[in-house]
Amino acid sequence: MKEKTFIMLKPDVVKRKLIGRIIQRFEDKGLEILEIKMLKIPKELAEKLYEEHRNRDFFEKLINFITSGKVVVMVIEGERAISVVRKMMGKTDPLEAEVGTIRGDFGYSTPDNLLHASDSEDSAKREINLFF
Ligand code: CMP
Repeated sequence: MKEKTFIMLKPDVVKRKLIGRIIQRFEDKGLEILEIKMLKIPKELAEKLYEEHRNRDFFEKLINFITSGKVVVMVIEGERAISVVRKMMGKTDPLEAEVGTIRGDFGYSTPDNLLHASDSEDSAKREINLFF
């Protein structure tokens, strides 16, 4: 069954000029980009996106990073897109992420771990609604 998922390319991707290379991976895989836009996220929206992490010690650092420059947000569709994209993205900590995943190939630190993708159908709906 086709699913929609939300992806955000973080400010490190824009600064490092990796937008094209990362989007290429999703297109090569056969996923379809339904919506895409670039924006600088207002602090309130960043806090809503990451509300589940509000009590974590890295929350302030994360919000400061996410609002530090432009991001690219997308809605991507495909068969089992949520889990396929999560697999392609790799583990949160790029040092732990498998080589061959986006974080494993391009990343070395957090919170600047290149991208965010929804982890469930409910979060995909919620995150898509926040941005589109
Ligand atoms: P993301 O998949 O967007 O979900 C939550 C984000 O918090 C995560 O990617 C990282 O950017 C950030 N994050 C998670 N753990 C840490 C950590 N220990 N230190 C700093 N940032 C973190």
